[in-house]
Parts: sequence; C-alpha cells; structure tokens
Amino acid sequence: MERVRVTPRSYPTNLIDKNWSQRIHMHGKDSEEFLNLVHDMQLRDDDVWIVTLPKCGTTWMQELVWLLLNDIDFEAALAKDQELRSPFLEFDFGVHKDLERSLRPVEECKSPRLIKSHFPLALLPSKLWEGKHKVIYVYRNPLDHWVSRYYHGVSFGFYYGKSLQQFFDGILASGDFATENIEHAHEFYQLRNEPWVFYTSFERMKKDLRGVINDVSRFLDKPVNDQQMEKLLKHLSFEEMKKNQTTNHLWELAQVKHKDAGKELHRFVRKGNVNGYKDELQPEQIERANIGIQRALEKNHVTMDELLLSGDP
Ligand code: A3P
Repeated sequence: MERVRVTPRSYPTNLIDKNWSQRIHMHGKDSEEFLNLVHDMQLRDDDVWIVTLPKCGTTWMQELVWLLLNDIDFEAALAKDQELRSPFLEFDFGVHKDLERSLRPVEECKSPRLIKSHFPLALLPSKLWEGKHKVIYVYRNPLDHWVSRYYHGVSFGFYYGKSLQQFFDGILASGDFATENIEHAHEFYQLRNEPWVFYTSFERMKKDLRGVINDVSRFLDKPVNDQQMEKLLKHLSFEEMKKNQTTNHLWELAQVKHKDAGKELHRFVRKGNVNGYKDELQPEQIERANIGIQRALEKNHVTMDELLLSGDP
C-alpha cells in the first residue's frame, strides 16, 4: 500500500505544545475522507482505547483489558475472536476502502467498547484529546517491532518472498526511518502522567506482568482478586496465548485475502522475546538502525530507556 503524507484536520495543541506543522504524518493513499471521519467521530463515555504501533504487544494488552472490562469472563473471551470483541479502528477501511462501512465495526460494538488503533495522537478522534476517555499505550523496542512486523507481513502475504534482510534494508533505506516510531511513542510518553492515560511497554509486561495487571486494574478501577490474578497470569502467558485460537488474528488473516496470505505462516503470537532482534538481524544492520534511532531520540529530547520505562521499579 502506497503511503503518502497526510495533514490532520486539527492538532492536539491543548495537550502538547510543539510545532505541529512540522510533524510528518504518513498514511495510505486516498484516505483523507476516512481520516476526517475519524477526526470527527463521536465517542461513548465508557470507551477505552488501546493505542500502539503495530507489533508492540497490542493483542496481549487488549486481551487483559477486554477481560477486565468484561468481568474476567474467560469463557466469553475464548468463544469469540478478539478482533470481534475489540474492534480495530482502521482495519475495515484498510481492507475494503469503503467509507460507508468503515466505522461500522466500532459503531456496532456493544459497550464498554475497547477500541484498538495504531494511529498517532493527532490522527485519533479529536474528542479523545479532551481527556475524558481512558487510553492505554504500549511501546516496544523498535528493532523487535520491525522484526515482528516482517513476520506478520510474510504471513499476511505482503512480504511473502522477501527475506528479513531485504525487508530491513528497505526500512533503513529511508533516511529518517526512526522518526515516525519515536514520535508516535514520545507523544504518549509526554502524556503518561495524565489521569486518563496509562503508558507502558512490552518490556515491562515481560518483566512484571503481575505488576502491569495491577496497574491497569487500578487505572480502570476494575479490581482483581487473588484467584482471578492467577487465572489471568495463566491466560495471558505466552504459551496459552500462542495456542489460543481467538488471539492469533485468524479472523483478520481471512479478511485480508492477500494472494500470498498463509503461504508462509508464522503464528501471530510468535516468539514474544525482548531483544530477539539480536538473533535475527546482521550486526551491521543493527548498528545502522541504532544510529537512526539515536538521532530521532535526540531530536525529541528523550531516551530509549525512558520510552521503554527501563528505569522504573
Ligand atoms: P513477536 O513477533 O516478536 O513474537 P501486536 O499484538 O501488537 O501485533 O504484537 C505482537 C507481538 O506480541 C508478537 O511479537 C507476539 O508474539 C507478542 N505477544 C503476544 N502475546 C504475547 C504474550 N502473551 N507474551 C509475550 N509476547 C506476546
């Protein structure tokens, strides 16, 4: 899909004071009307949003939040694909390019809605910027995010036939490849102390899932007792989620209908490692990537340790 620069209808200037006109937003070609529809979208008071870059632990966090919002009903969770329990804002338009139906999955979802999006702050509904809805953000080391994106793209057909090395060289070829990633996270990182925002990282979830469950349960005001905690830890474990038919995006795979979809299939819940990229990318690629990442971090006056919450207890 060809990506072009897009201009949001307005900017969250009430939240972050920066030169928004310099912020480059990229999105699929011919999506202006859809982006305007999202910008003006009506929300429900009890909506909860999960915003991430792709492959940063969205599904993992979504499963936790959906359960917290639905009386920790494991049976209901296991009975329906996650994509149908918790709609992905931009998915329908991405697949069908049909404005009429594009927001139907979100509109038809019963309350409380848990809405997933990969949009950056300025492309999300402007109503969200009023701070009346809960937003959960999960970040992940960009190198693991890119490697995971590659395997996802191979399974869904987009990158079928391409090697990881070729894919990654393609990323590195665009001079400013890291800025979009870093700015996406940094905007939410700057909002992390707002009472309506919960910011965390994949790395934190790996290190202390129990702690993250406790934090999210407090954030949503959905208490969890000891017995529920143990069951949640099991349900959300890598092993359980890997074999769970509802959390491996099989419904989405079937919708996309790419001619090469499924020719080389990697399970959606694939490896789930921190720093797994070190075993997959060439040292020279990692070095070049880190130079670009560092440049983007410096431009934003933030460090990777800060974005990943590495120093937090
Ligand atoms: P890998 O491809 O590196 O394994 P998203 O849902 O944002 O697309 O993120 C997908 C990534 O999260 C995949 O990373 C997947 O394996 C990982 N993931 C999903 N559930 C997980 C779990 N319970 N534990 C660890 N990682 C998990």
